[in-house]
Amino acid sequence: MNAGNTARAYGWMARLFHWSVAVLILAAIALGLYADALPSGTEIELQAIFATFSWHKTVGVAALGLAVLRILWTLTQSKPRPLHPNRKLEHFVAETVHWALWIGMVIMPLTGWLLHSAAPGGFSRILWPLGQRLPFVPENAALAERFGHFHSTGWWVLAGLIVLHVAGALKHALLDRDGTMSRMAGPASRAPEPPVAHGSVLPHVLAALAGLLIWAGTVIVSAGNPEQAAPVASSEQPASGWVVEQGVLGIEVAQGGTPIQGQFGTWQAAIDYDPATLAGKVDVNIDIASLTLGSVSDNAKGPDFLNAAQFPGARFEAEILPPTTEGAAHLARGTLTIAGKSVPAELPFDLTVDGDKATAKGEMKVDRRDFGIGAGYADESTVGFGVTIRFDLTANRK
Ligand code: HEM
Ligand code: HEM
Repeated sequence: MNAGNTARAYGWMARLFHWSVAVLILAAIALGLYADALPSGTEIELQAIFATFSWHKTVGVAALGLAVLRILWTLTQSKPRPLHPNRKLEHFVAETVHWALWIGMVIMPLTGWLLHSAAPGGFSRILWPLGQRLPFVPENAALAERFGHFHSTGWWVLAGLIVLHVAGALKHALLDRDGTMSRMAGPASRAPEPPVAHGSVLPHVLAALAGLLIWAGTVIVSAGNPEQAAPVASSEQPASGWVVEQGVLGIEVAQGGTPIQGQFGTWQAAIDYDPATLAGKVDVNIDIASLTLGSVSDNAKGPDFLNAAQFPGARFEAEILPPTTEGAAHLARGTLTIAGKSVPAELPFDLTVDGDKATAKGEMKVDRRDFGIGAGYADESTVGFGVTIRFDLTANRK
């Protein structure tokens, strides 16, 4: 068999690429879904999820590499001629699906990699000695969430396209019995000689556009996903002397010895602060379900850790104490309640007030065991005991 395509059939290079990319993509989908469905109750179960996602990512990156090589190879080739050039609609649909598959085989692993790259910390590695992160992609929880939404919506689209594609191939094999399968799977000698067609280029261009539109639609649908809130403080501020204009509330914890960072997308802070006395009080309410923590967000919010279903909110109520010496940090001293347990807590922070605008920034370290979080993870090798909570905000006086 020829390496290159002929007018009758695909050559062995195109076939090798077609089937290896197909197997890797199907394996990536299966591994992704399997990892998503695995229970996350115990430490061993969590490790199994990490390992499965590592395989998912590795298989996905291999699919991306082969897909790129496949595209380069295909650019040097002419396609076998259509077997039924007069079945215009059928041909158009098949070509549209092919175009959408070409795009999908690149865009799906790429968004997976972008998601992996942008996720602060990241937890399961691509199994190779090369770098993990893509250049020019900042570590940013909101960005990772965006790519994550696309990735999670996109696999449905890709799976739907594969179903259509396979259904079409089966129709040719079982109903039409026209030798289309032999062009890609059987001996080239069994592939029938297609008629010489003199079609215009317009249907090809339209099919390419339709394939592109399918993915443009997916981008729009995934961007409009209501869960996809950018991690900013909620605009519904309770009554207070100061209104948070923008802010970031994040945590950092060691995962398998590596620090990973996360952010809460929704929280409110009621702040009373008098610049004359340098004192006041603060009441922060945090929506636990809005936490993103790399790829372990769901585990972190699950029953073993923050248990968002049972304890949807966390709260920090504190008095703001003036700095002990001029220029030193302020101190918010009060009670931190997480997962239903209240613990005394002190949060030192730097504050700059400029007229009616204030910027504040600080961090405190807590021990997750004080809140009974991750009780089943009794050593630090999987999840560290210490959790840093940090904030950085600007507020305007009401
Ligand atoms: C697993 C079952 C699959 C079967 C039975 C199958 C079958 C086929 C057949 C028979 C062709 C040739 C069509 C023709 O000559 O007009 C073809 C082409 C193609 N297949 Fe598949 N395929 C499968 C999976 C996939 C997957 C998973 C992908 C990608 C994600 C894919 C992407 C493509 C593309 C892009 C073409 C067009 C190739 C070109 O024009 O160079 N296929 N497939
Ligand atoms: C052929 C390529 C790929 C396909 C078809 C694919 C498909 C999937 C599927 C079906 C899931 C589980 C469903 C879901 O979370 O909604 C998933 C999750 C995920 N994939 Fe992929 N994937 C691919 C490549 C990659 C690559 C290359 C990476 C990273 C290097 C990656 C990273 C992830 C991550 C981090 C998740 C978990 C997302 C989350 O739970 O938020 N994927 N992928």
